Amino acid sequence: MDVKARIDEIIKILNQANKEYYIDDNPSLTDQEYDRYMQELIMLEGAYPELKRQDSPTSRVGSDAISKFDKVTHEIPMLSLGNVFNEQEIINFDERVRKEVKNPEYVCELKIDGLSISLKYEKGILVRGATRGDGITGEDITNNVKTIKTIPLKLNEPIDIEIRGEIYMSKKSFNELNAEREKTGEQLFQNPRNAASGSVRQLDSKITAKRKLDCLIYHLPNPLDYNIKTHFEALSFMKNLGANVSPNNKLVKDVKGILDYVKYWTEHRQDLPYEIDGIVIKVNSIISQQNLGFTARTPKWATAYKFPATEVTTRLIDIICTVGRTGKITPNAILEPVKVAGSTIAKATLHNEDNVIDKDIRIGDTVVIRKAGDVIPEVVRSLKEKRDGSEKIFEMITTCPICHTHLIRKDGEADYFCPNNSCDGRKIENLIHYASRDAMNIDGLGENIIEYLYNENFIHRIPDIYNIASYQNELILLEGFGEKSVEKLKIAIENSKHNSLERLLFGLGIRQVGNKTAKLLARNYKHIDKLKEATEEELSSIPDIGPIIAKNVVTFFRDEENLKLIEELKALNINMEYITTSKVTNEEIENKTFVLTGSLSNITREEASRIIEDLGGKTSSSVSKKTYAVIVGENPGSKYDKALKLGVNIWHEEEFLDKIKDSL
Ligand code: IVH
Repeated sequence: MDVKARIDEIIKILNQANKEYYIDDNPSLTDQEYDRYMQELIMLEGAYPELKRQDSPTSRVGSDAISKFDKVTHEIPMLSLGNVFNEQEIINFDERVRKEVKNPEYVCELKIDGLSISLKYEKGILVRGATRGDGITGEDITNNVKTIKTIPLKLNEPIDIEIRGEIYMSKKSFNELNAEREKTGEQLFQNPRNAASGSVRQLDSKITAKRKLDCLIYHLPNPLDYNIKTHFEALSFMKNLGANVSPNNKLVKDVKGILDYVKYWTEHRQDLPYEIDGIVIKVNSIISQQNLGFTARTPKWATAYKFPATEVTTRLIDIICTVGRTGKITPNAILEPVKVAGSTIAKATLHNEDNVIDKDIRIGDTVVIRKAGDVIPEVVRSLKEKRDGSEKIFEMITTCPICHTHLIRKDGEADYFCPNNSCDGRKIENLIHYASRDAMNIDGLGENIIEYLYNENFIHRIPDIYNIASYQNELILLEGFGEKSVEKLKIAIENSKHNSLERLLFGLGIRQVGNKTAKLLARNYKHIDKLKEATEEELSSIPDIGPIIAKNVVTFFRDEENLKLIEELKALNINMEYITTSKVTNEEIENKTFVLTGSLSNITREEASRIIEDLGGKTSSSVSKKTYAVIVGENPGSKYDKALKLGVNIWHEEEFLDKIKDSL
């Protein structure tokens, strides 16, 4: 047999085995047999690189790292869904549909909590995987997508097709990944969705390959091209092509069928191996879908029922106070561990003393805990009827739990503060914040490691982080840390030196400067030395920067300690400049102020604002003479009239999209 034929044969066997194992859950090859074929294929491709095929399963292990993702334009925009939150709203949705469609059938699906993906196949071979991005422009993540075992590299037919679905991480893989990261001191992912999204957007696909991601397919953008008349048919068509389609999709005849499905999965969602955050309801007939059409950016033929925040009860064992980087003291409930929506919760915030008093929450109480999406779990109320008299009333502490300085509470404020700027607790929290993902993003420098390095006197101030040579030997000896992890950390620290200015500004912890404000400041001032000179008036003239933030910024840059820190960081070659993310500037947008009004149909207002800001423009909520143009969608409001009156430029949505299209 010639080499090419042998390669073809092995790929066929391996792709089939992969499908049987990951999609059908019915393997016919043993692991050893699979590995033997894989080794042979790797060997043959190594010896004959010209014979390596695009759908070779060897690409599942990842390819060479790239420096950035290419942009991809979605020919058919990737839409989002409108939401409904209760039974009545589902009934209203059905009634709206019924105005256009007689006796509509629906397909009910699970709303998987991951990130959407578009997969393009040419002649049945996977050629492109792209993120949704803003719905019109996404990112090309083909190399990463190829590492996901539930995504076929080759379909069962040599067909040209685009299919869409959700990439997600199972609860099991998420827990394993976080357990691993905890050991190595890396920052933990908040939930499986963040973990999936962080994993799939790795420039080095070998990292993605290690992350155990999954994919379920739920949408065919062009069903009529394949002579498909219903969504349910589209699902089975994609399944027959080899795509991983959920077995839990259900065709229902009426709104009662929808409500039954919602009830069933509300009760059984915990049993699923992955997290869902709702139920998607889609009109089955494609023609009816077309008749119903779209609103601003969502189809009128589909909606998402979102589950309410999950509430569970458990016992509050103790209340302990922690100090944050600003000195703010937070009482936290220590709980008997309880499972909520896939994760175990042992701690929940009580916000402040007043909240504990108002809700009469006592130590030993049975309490109701709520967890919604990304939000930190909170104690909603205590169940007074479950008390047996042994519960203790919480007494707020009067001194800092770390440095024991007397706490202060300003008149009219709910929070207590530790006023000691040199408080160890505050310093540790400051360092944790500096290294955190939204700030300098130093992977490997998580809470536990920082606390350890602080207590061992290796890192006391931010510049010490960069002196890793002084503490690397200690790190290597730490449990779960090895030479490899230290090497990775060194690279992460080095890479962080090239971050754009906004990360540094956010990381420095200027009061009330969150990551959005940091970006605004970076974009407006471009270099920290310019920001240093800014006056309160100048800062407050920037839309979205109020007088309090302006004052905080000026105060920060007047502090000798802070100025010294910045000089030290400069000497360590930490970038102090704004690095724009858009490759191209756009003169029509840069330094100009825009107002958006009416519903846009191809893009949300938030996305439009983000694009304007990325291109150096500003958005404002009211029209004035300073407004450069008002961007109008359908049914514009009074802002449109005002723009006409003031003679401000008016751009219709298409005109706006046209002006920005080359800059995306
Ligand atoms: S349909 C036009 N089906 O939910 C069709 N979306 O909130 C649009 N999602 O962006 C999507 N499971 O990322 C659809 N079974 C499902 C889904 C699903 C999860 C996500 C998807 C979408 C978001 C909308």
